[in-house]
Amino acid sequence: MYYFDHAASSRIYPEVIDILNDRYKNSFGNPGAAHQYGQSLRKKIEELRLNFLHKYFKAEGDFILTTSATLSNNVAILAPLLHLTNPKDFEIIYFEGDHPSVVKPVQECGKKGYQLKSIVLNSHKEMAVEDVVDLVSEKTKLIVLTSVNNQSGQLYPVKEIALAARLKNPDLLIHLDASQSFSKIEEEYNFFDSVTVSSHKMGGPKSVAGLYVKSAKNYSPIFFGGGQQGGLFSGTEDVVLLEAFHLATELSFTKMGESFEKIKKMNQELQQILTDLDLGFEFPFKKTSPYILTFTSQAIPSDVFLRLCENKNIYLSSTAACSSRIKGFNATFKHLGLEDKWHKHVIRLSFSALTTQEEFLGLVEGLQSVIKENSFLFKKNKR
Ligand SMILES: Cc1ncc(COP(=O)(O)O)c(C=O)c1O
Repeated sequence: MYYFDHAASSRIYPEVIDILNDRYKNSFGNPGAAHQYGQSLRKKIEELRLNFLHKYFKAEGDFILTTSATLSNNVAILAPLLHLTNPKDFEIIYFEGDHPSVVKPVQECGKKGYQLKSIVLNSHKEMAVEDVVDLVSEKTKLIVLTSVNNQSGQLYPVKEIALAARLKNPDLLIHLDASQSFSKIEEEYNFFDSVTVSSHKMGGPKSVAGLYVKSAKNYSPIFFGGGQQGGLFSGTEDVVLLEAFHLATELSFTKMGESFEKIKKMNQELQQILTDLDLGFEFPFKKTSPYILTFTSQAIPSDVFLRLCENKNIYLSSTAACSSRIKGFNATFKHLGLEDKWHKHVIRLSFSALTTQEEFLGLVEGLQSVIKENSFLFKKNKR
């Protein structure tokens, strides 16, 4: 199987699978229990939480364990807002080309009366710092940003935006969704009030994610229960999943530079191979993370392209997994600046640190034979 859909969910590190196997046999207690065993699990949680904060976020604050990046984003967006009594007095700045787990909660706030301002990319499909800062006013309460767009792979100048926006309004909060960049790309987190990170995009299991929060005093609970994690995410913490997530983070950070270079080389080789075929493969996005390569197959629609690839055991995608049922016009693509006529032709190919050279060679060989065996389709429809 040639798996190139790591932006949806990556393969899991073998070491992480070993930890899961071992710990689920031996570590089953409740970290909230008063007995010694429960307390030892609590101690483990606190130790890992501090490690996340100090080693990986290099910041002070809180690290909240959640069950998905979607929930982390919802907490980060809704918890500082929903308790405010005069929503019309507050503005939220966001980008509609981002993942639905940030776009939808912001739009829900819009329905409750908060004023929404949309970031629009410039004619080069870039997010210009000054365009975002122009939107900031004294009423701005929250800016929601993403470091690497999950669809296009584009890297946005989030640090520069955060610095400039705070100069204009020092009281605003800035949330960063780093689901596609954490442990893959060097970045600094202490410019943000909250940061979402996800385990299953970087070699860890699903059903565990994190939310870094600089100052918990800005947030009020949006759901209620036993009051764990300062009340912000009630519910019994899964120590085993936290440990697995932590190990995946450690493994990814240790090899971040090496993995980045390896994937960058694969990405560039692939772009060259597809360009050399001169069959209408276009790369519409610049300044991207090497981990995501999005192109349009202008000769044939993406669902046909994906099916032909699947016949060779190659797994790619056309859009984010949660939007894969959308056919034809796609609002996210529109906000990313793609002409409507190409929405049905988008292919996303994504890598992770676990992608091997052998797998890459299999992908190249498979793609070349898909194109050779179906050259009549590609040539006939070449635009
Ligand atoms: C940038 C980004 N944010 C959030 C998510 C949501 O992740 P999950 O489905 O694990 O909640 C994804 C998933 O693709 C993503 O790419």
